[in-house]
Formats: sequence, C-alpha cells, structure tokens
Amino acid sequence: CNMLDFARCLVLCALVGSVCAACPSRCECSEAAQTVKCVSKELRSIPTGIPGYTRNLFVTGNQISRIGPESFIGLENVTTLSLSNNRISEVESQTFSRLRSLRFLDLSNNQLAVIHPEAFTIQNQSLRELNLSRALYNHSSVTDLATSLRWSSLSALQVLDLSHNSLILLPARIFSHLTNLRRLQLSNNSLVAIHNATFQGLEKLEEVDLSLNALKTVPEEGLRELDSIPTTTLVLGDNPFMCKCGIEPFTLWVNRSQERIRDVDGLVCAFPVSLRNTSLLEAGKGDLALQTSYVFLGIVLGFVGLTFLFVLYLNRKGIKKRIYDLRDACREVWEGYHYRFEIDSDPRLSQVSTAADA
Ligand SMILES: *[C@@H]1O[C@H](CO)[C@@H](O)[C@H](O)[C@H]1NC(C)=O
Ligand SMILES: *[C@@H]1O[C@H](CO)[C@@H](O)[C@H](O)[C@H]1NC(C)=O
Ligand SMILES: *[C@@H]1O[C@H](CO)[C@@H](O)[C@H](O)[C@H]1NC(C)=O
Ligand SMILES: *[C@@H]1O[C@H](CO)[C@@H](O)[C@H](O)[C@H]1NC(C)=O
Ligand SMILES: *[C@@H]1O[C@H](CO)[C@@H](O)[C@H](O)[C@H]1NC(C)=O
Ligand SMILES: *[C@@H]1O[C@H](CO)[C@@H](O)[C@H](O)[C@H]1NC(C)=O
Ligand SMILES: *[C@@H]1O[C@H](CO)[C@@H](O)[C@H](O)[C@H]1NC(C)=O
Ligand SMILES: *[C@@H]1O[C@H](CO)[C@@H](O)[C@H](O)[C@H]1NC(C)=O
Repeated sequence: CNMLDFARCLVLCALVGSVCAACPSRCECSEAAQTVKCVSKELRSIPTGIPGYTRNLFVTGNQISRIGPESFIGLENVTTLSLSNNRISEVESQTFSRLRSLRFLDLSNNQLAVIHPEAFTIQNQSLRELNLSRALYNHSSVTDLATSLRWSSLSALQVLDLSHNSLILLPARIFSHLTNLRRLQLSNNSLVAIHNATFQGLEKLEEVDLSLNALKTVPEEGLRELDSIPTTTLVLGDNPFMCKCGIEPFTLWVNRSQERIRDVDGLVCAFPVSLRNTSLLEAGKGDLALQTSYVFLGIVLGFVGLTFLFVLYLNRKGIKKRIYDLRDACREVWEGYHYRFEIDSDPRLSQVSTAADA
C-alpha cells in the first residue's frame, strides 16, 4: 500500500470498524479491481496477508520452489491464480483445495519435478483451465502428473496446456478422468507415438494440438486412437514425417480425415531429402508409390537371388560331384585331344591311325 491508500484505509477502518485489508509488502493490491500482484520481487514463498477480496492473484517471476496448502489461506474468492515463472519444483497434496472459487490456474514456466497425487484438488471442483506449459522439469514428471490428473477430481476442467514440455510418451488413460476437457495443448513436446487409450475418456474433446512433436508417422495403433475421438479437430504440423514405404496407411488416413485436420496443408515430409517439403497427400499419391515399387522390385530380386544361393547350398554335394565329373570329363577330353594332337603331328602315326580308321 502506498501512504495515501494506507491513510484512506485507516479512515475506512475507523469508520466501519472492520478488519483493515492491508497489502503484503512487495505486492500491489487493488481492491477496486480485486487484484493483487507480486511480480518479480525475489519472493521465496507465497506472501501472507493477501486480502480476502482478491479475485485475481499474480505471484510471478519470483523464486518460489515449493507450494503447499499453507500457501493459500483465506483466499476463497480467488478465481484466477498465476504462479508462472517461478522455480516451483514441488506441489504438495491439497495445495489449492481451499481456493473454492479457483477457475484458472497458471503454473507455466516452472520446474515441476514432484507433483503429489492430489496436488490439483479443489474442494469445489471449480477448476476450468490448467496451464502447465513449459512447467515440467523433464519427462520423468509425467508419471506424477498422470497420477495427479487422475486423483485430483478435475471433472470440470476444460482446457489443459501441456505444451513445451519434454514429453516423449503419454501413459495410457492419463486424461481419462478429465471428462469435460475441450482443449488439449500438447504442442512442442517430443512425442514419438500415440498409443492405445491415450485419449480414453475425452468424450467432449474439441481440439488437440500435436504440432512440433517427434512423430515420424502414425501407425495403425495411433490411427485407431485418433479415430476414437472422431469429432476432435487435430493440429499435426511440424512433425518430422518420414515418407518411406509403410507410411501409406497414415497418408490414406490423412486424406480421409482432411476435414478435421486444421493444418492439413502443413503436413509435409521431412525425410527423405528428395521429398522434403512435399505434402503428405502428394507423397501418398505419386513419388512414394514409385519409390515403393522400386523397393518392392529390389526386395523381389533379392529374394530370388537368395533362393538361388540357397538351392546351390542344398545341392552342394551333388554340385561338387558334378564339378568333379566335369573336371574328369574335361581331363579326358583334353587328354584325348592332346593324344590326337600328338598323333596328328607325327606323320607316321597319322598314317597308322588313318589305316586303323580305314
Ligand atoms: C469473498 O467475497 C464475498 C462476496 O464478495 C464476501 O462476502 C466475502 O467476505 C469474501 N471473502 C473474504 C475472505 O473476504
Ligand atoms: C499458458 O501460458 C503460456 C505462457 O506462459 C501462454 O503462452 C499460453 O497461451 C497459456 N495457455 C493457455 C491455454 O492459455
Ligand atoms: C463453487 O464454484 C462456483 C464457480 O465455479 C461458484 O459459483 C460457487 O459459489 C462455488 N461454491 C462454493 C461453495 O464456494
Ligand atoms: C529427470 O531428472 C531427474 C533428476 O535430475 C533424473 O534423475 C531423471 O533421470 C531425469 N529423467 C529424464 C527422462 O531425463
Ligand atoms: C520448443 O520448446 C523449446 C524448449 O523446450 C524451446 O527452446 C523452443 O523455442 C520451443 N519452440 C517453439 C517453436 O516454441
Ligand atoms: C491396442 O488395442 C488393440 C485393440 O483395440 C489391440 O489389438 C492391441 O493389441 C493393443 N495394443 C497394445 C500395444 O496394447
Ligand atoms: C521447406 O520449407 C521451408 C519453409 O516453408 C523452407 O524454409 C525450406 O527451405 C524448405 N526446404 C526445402 C528443401 O525446400
Ligand atoms: C483422396 O481420396 C479420394 C477418394 O476418397 C481420391 O479420389 C483422391 O485421389 C485421394 N487423394 C489423395 C491425395 O490420395
């Protein structure tokens, strides 16, 4: 509070006789806007004494490493809470449970390594949006996260942002308790595959963003999974798609699902280099088919060659024998020829032989 506010507050307190709504040092409080901001003040914990009228609370850009239930007391009116850009690595069980009106929780840009099972539980199940963008320390945190999403009674959650983390694979049924989720942001992770039951339970999902991941293709299992959320709009661009044989089921699926892929024109091959930037749909049609037929031809020829070698191998004894026979035959022929040559070259013998022939 500045001095003027403080004076006004004192007067108000004197007049009304109610508890004076003070403001924690290093924070700015606006009762009119029901907003409290404690921004970039090197705070190491959530300040105490935040006024009860607060609806919007921003404690951002500080150095808070742990938050727990004692961090938020008497804040039943807070609807928007931003804790982004701290260094939060641990969220205890029931941390937010007394924030009975909480609708928007922003934990982006933190380093969550330990997330307790009921970290996001809120008594009133009022949470609508949870922002965990760039919030996980590394992929290992996903196990804690999955447990927590399951145990935290987030049945009212509509938006979940998990972008810019280092997620490699999503555990099966990780979102299965988020039955009202509309928007799922998974962009800029390192997802390499979509397994069975990844999206199980997301019956109201309207959009999932999988762009900027590490998908080289989406094999049958993943396609089945994407078909299990048939009305959901998909964003799939900026993945390193590998346009070699085997990708056809995916390109066919892309063609079939064009209407619900928002960035269908942005789906291009990253490899091989000769097809780089070629649309997946085009690759599915022409070059790839040709390339595939060459590969097929190669495989067939290789197979024929191998069969030939194998037959040779099976007959190796017979062949050896035949080679010896051949050699013997050759020798006989050669010796015969040699003999005849000697006869031919000796006129006397030649006469003898002609006489004998006759
Ligand atoms: C929360 O808001 C309601 C209505 O605006 C008010 O009556 C109540 O006192 C507030 N709670 C606190 C702890 O100030
Ligand atoms: C989450 O926070 C980041 C910034 O930290 C912001 O860019 C993003 O839009 C937020 N996500 C949602 C769904 O609001
Ligand atoms: C529960 O949350 C809703 C908003 O989501 C709010 O209107 C209602 O007053 C809350 N109930 C309690 C008991 O705080
Ligand atoms: C995540 O970080 C922890 C602690 O540094 C480490 O033990 C673990 O191996 C890391 N996990 C991954 C997938 O990098
Ligand atoms: C993706 O995330 C990494 C950090 O994880 C960041 O360096 C990079 O800028 C992000 N890319 C985009 C396009 O946002
Ligand atoms: C995925 O589900 C299908 C049936 O829907 C099943 O045949 C297949 O074995 C499952 N794959 C894995 C890896 O669980
Ligand atoms: C592919 O397209 C991107 C942008 O659309 C461009 O920067 C890049 O040079 C292109 N690469 C090739 C090999 O055409
Ligand atoms: C997409 O499928 C339609 C038939 O459903 C077909 O006529 C068309 O050629 C296909 N396009 C591509 C690029 O494969």
